[in-house]
Amino acid sequence: MMQLTEKQKGMLKGKEGEAVKKAMELITALGDIYGAERLIPVSSVQVSGVSYKTIGDAGLEFIEDYARIMKEEGIEVRVKTTMNPAGMDLEKWEKMGVPPEFAKKQMRIFEAYTSMGIEPSLTCTPYYFVNVPKFGEHIAWAESSAVSYANSVMGARTNREGGPSALASAITGLTAEYGLHLDENRKADVIVELDFEPEPYLYAVLGNHLGSTLTRMGKKVPYFRGIKPELDSMKALGAAMAATGSIALYHVENITPEWKNAVDDELEVMHIGRTELTEHIKGMDMGCEPELIAIGCPHASESELKRIAELVDGRKKRPDKELWVSISRAVAERNPDAVETIERFGGLVLRDTCMVVSPIENRFKSTGVNSGKAAYYLPKESFCRQCIRFRPLEELVMMAVEGEK
Ligand code: F3S
Repeated sequence: MMQLTEKQKGMLKGKEGEAVKKAMELITALGDIYGAERLIPVSSVQVSGVSYKTIGDAGLEFIEDYARIMKEEGIEVRVKTTMNPAGMDLEKWEKMGVPPEFAKKQMRIFEAYTSMGIEPSLTCTPYYFVNVPKFGEHIAWAESSAVSYANSVMGARTNREGGPSALASAITGLTAEYGLHLDENRKADVIVELDFEPEPYLYAVLGNHLGSTLTRMGKKVPYFRGIKPELDSMKALGAAMAATGSIALYHVENITPEWKNAVDDELEVMHIGRTELTEHIKGMDMGCEPELIAIGCPHASESELKRIAELVDGRKKRPDKELWVSISRAVAERNPDAVETIERFGGLVLRDTCMVVSPIENRFKSTGVNSGKAAYYLPKESFCRQCIRFRPLEELVMMAVEGEK
């Protein structure tokens, strides 16, 4: 059993109200299950479970109930807390073809979360400008792609929280100290060696391939050797590994902040060649002619957004194709010219949402993506039912341009 401070014991007994009590019950239960010795403070939280499509009526009720109790007790979240994407752009939902009934329920979820004091960030890339953890900081983030980025690229420390456990950390400012909060669990357990430098789009393929392969092998923390990924490539790699498997932390030799202390023992070495990745694409790319080209999973960075704007600047969109670019509000606000260029072309720059957590299946049957995570979720029968075209960003964007193939 965990050692709690007197204050924490009081919180668990309900001295600080019902909302805090419930949150403490969840966090301490998790701590006991995973053998934590104590609770530690977190500096920030990212909550998931925001899209009505992913949480449905049961989730909506749960969040509204929680929000009601917090309001009655006059409390809000205790630490900086940001929000994952919703099922629609809160302003452009009609242009997306989102049904009004869905939109109403989505707004109720959004309002319940904001009434708790959660920032209306609505992005899976809070680490762009909004919620930027420092090296070594303990945080409690849900959203597996953001967890991977925060752990691997920024050197912050978080487990892969679920929606309720992240919310509980937001309400208490605490998490149980186990898993990736501890030094010993941040060591690599396998070396992945590449003998070539992948082009940026191949990082999504590498992640899609390795997430499931490593998880099947029981490996949790890969250490990459022989590659020099840019930040956008690391984002794509981590998101895909976390989607097809349970990888929440990786290291890249000479690049990520903890690589120097990541390898203690002699580890198994796995070699990946170009052929293996090009073969793997065959399983991701279903070869369909996409009705929708959707970029921004995880939400596009400033450089990705600008690259798309460059590609479509002064060109005309094909009337039979839609182009969606998903970004955070923060990236949109800082890049009005790029947003305007893409919208002048006829594309839709969406904030607050993405192609996976919005109800695209109501409107489209086939989607073109450059994301290893989206390529994993979009075809699912129970989720988006899309036929996937997987191609590099440039090729996809040009598919939407009139006069291009
Ligand atoms: Fe983000 Fe949606 Fe992809 S939430 S990581 S853009 S599935």
